[in-house]
Amino acid sequence: MAASGIGSRRTCEEWIKQGLVKVNGVVVTELGTRVDPANDKVTFRSKIIRPPLRNYYIAVNKPAGVVCTLSDSHAARIITDLVDIQGKPMLRPVGRLDAETEGLIFLSDDGGFINRLTHPRYHIPKTYKARVRGHISATGLQALRDGVMLADGMTAPARQVILRNTSRETGDDAFSDVSLTIAEGRNRQVRRMFATIGHNVIHLERSQIGPIRLTGIPIGAWRHLTQHEIAMLTETKPESENTTEKKESWPTEQQHLTPARARSQSNLPRTRRPGPPRTSSNSRKRGSTTG
Ligand code: URA
Repeated sequence: MAASGIGSRRTCEEWIKQGLVKVNGVVVTELGTRVDPANDKVTFRSKIIRPPLRNYYIAVNKPAGVVCTLSDSHAARIITDLVDIQGKPMLRPVGRLDAETEGLIFLSDDGGFINRLTHPRYHIPKTYKARVRGHISATGLQALRDGVMLADGMTAPARQVILRNTSRETGDDAFSDVSLTIAEGRNRQVRRMFATIGHNVIHLERSQIGPIRLTGIPIGAWRHLTQHEIAMLTETKPESENTTEKKESWPTEQQHLTPARARSQSNLPRTRRPGPPRTSSNSRKRGSTTG
């Protein structure tokens, strides 16, 4: 049912338990009942649920100002408005990005896929590129690496924290660019992590989810995920089932660094003049937002 796009897996389970679903005219309340999509007739409140001929798996580069909540009728733009596909599949966002946050987010009409990618036990790492106000100290970076205390509890240690750049200036114009990889998805987590160590986020972009990078998708544009990418995302095992130390098989951002860039990570960052954020894979000029 969830794969047909009518609701999340949990909502569909509730409907089944409430006796709203029939298979071949008979109410079915047992969860996990198997049906043959080609031969069985499944109805919800007397409407036939058709299995989708195909599912959609889409990667979007979300601009700032677009919301990921489908029910926000006041929002100027909703994430699904960015994708115009014939047949209007019932796409839903896979997780959330704040309205002000840009970058990579997936949309799909496959409830199983959405559920799997958003379930906390899969711990899919996500990389964010943040420009924060002020010069971030080595102690601050270490705190992010170790985990910081937020109102809703301690964060897990970050998978990776890289200081990319700092401005020359001190005072109001000073900034630091940090790449941060975390595997949790709490509300406004990155902004709150930086706030805890005394830095407001000026600009935030999600640049990678698991093995999938934002590279090549202009802001506001989208592309289909490939079969290989979908397989990589869905074949991730929950961490408790991983037997080796290595958490994922795709390259981390550190492994993608050129030798020169990697070398620079071990030293204090080079400074450069402040300019527009260089965090995006696209060249569009953008204003700053405060977090
Ligand atoms: N962390 C944030 O603060 N915002 C997002 O949109 C995602 C992660």
